[in-house]
Amino acid sequence: MTDLDTLMNSRHSRHPSIDRAASFAERLGLRVPVMLAPMAGACPPSLSIAVCEAGGLGACGALLMSPEEIQRWAGDVRAQTGGPFQMNIWVPDPEPPRDAEQESRLRQFLHPWQLAMEECAPHAGRGEGRAAVVLNFDEQCEAMLATEPAAISSIMGLFPEAMVADMKRRGIVWMATATTVAEAVTAVHAGADVIVAQGMEAGGHRGSFVAAEAEQSLVGLMSLLPAIVDEVDVPVVATGGIADARGAAAALLLGASAVQLGTGFLRTTESSISPAWAQAIARTRPEDTVATRSFTGRLGRAVRNRYLESAMGADAPSPAPFPVQSRLTQGMRQAATRADNIDAMQAWAGQSARLSRAVPAAQIVDELWQGMQTLLG
Ligand SMILES: Cc1cc2nc3c(=O)[nH]c(=O)nc-3n(C[C@H](O)[C@H](O)[C@H](O)COP(=O)(O)O)c2cc1C
Repeated sequence: MTDLDTLMNSRHSRHPSIDRAASFAERLGLRVPVMLAPMAGACPPSLSIAVCEAGGLGACGALLMSPEEIQRWAGDVRAQTGGPFQMNIWVPDPEPPRDAEQESRLRQFLHPWQLAMEECAPHAGRGEGRAAVVLNFDEQCEAMLATEPAAISSIMGLFPEAMVADMKRRGIVWMATATTVAEAVTAVHAGADVIVAQGMEAGGHRGSFVAAEAEQSLVGLMSLLPAIVDEVDVPVVATGGIADARGAAAALLLGASAVQLGTGFLRTTESSISPAWAQAIARTRPEDTVATRSFTGRLGRAVRNRYLESAMGADAPSPAPFPVQSRLTQGMRQAATRADNIDAMQAWAGQSARLSRAVPAAQIVDELWQGMQTLLG
């Protein structure tokens, strides 16, 4: 008998939040209501396999992956576990306006940073990086559908109607990330089966539907979660700043049906991030992360480092919109990662970074669920 069976069959009084989470988990084929957050570039198969084997939901952040890479990821996970996982992708923004003068100022500003990072990584070669892959959203969606995941999640907007219809036909749950009550309501009207409420504490990019409005809608999970729960009639998953059982239990009390952790899994044994990033997360206090556009042009929360101090300074040129800024900083970011140099590394992290632990992912999942049940009685 699984943990969940025991819980579902228990006749003793238990908190209604635990009941809600247990039945949501059952619906998704999970043993525990804990989900790995989709993280583009930071979701190796090993991490999902570990989370799935512990009874949680695995995740693939497919933003930067070709259709072949998406297929391979799913194959690698399925070779090691029968557990369910979600696929995830950003809904593309409209093409941004271009400003040649601003881009030239940015190039000048970024040049010394890139050189400095390349000097720290002498064997990598100047200007060398991953060959540019042209990705096509429709083809990525096709590939995600073909892997027949339990769920596909969206961020930065809504899936096109045809994609939603295809998911419904195949019985794939649509989990829509929302950063405001208005976004959550719109997503439910468009057919979302589950809302992922992303608090502003979250590491990585903020999922605002309108990129330019992200700073104006920075809502913390404590306010966002109950407000969305009160407004929609679908299950709500809590994400952003949850990294131990205290936060997870609080989220269930506020009405969540499951919790989703990103940064909390980044230091685990099965994670693949660079050593300097993992070490930075371990020492980062809530006030040491910053919401910034200086890496990609989309607002995202990262460990505050020397590059960000400089790029967000009064004298620095303002960032270009996504994806222009992302292309401009790419050389510097790649060189910083190769050099394992935190000074200019794109080290995404949520505000609860310091609660993350360097232990097997299964231990995080187990302790979260045990802790939630203990704290909620
Ligand atoms: C390294 C990193 C990459 C991320 N990439 C994605 C992504 O591709 N798609 C997405 O929906 N969310 C992405 N996110 C956001 C997470 O899905 C989630 O909302 C966030 O990690 C929750 O906050 P936490 O980090 O405090 O747990 C990313 C987060 C991190 C830390």
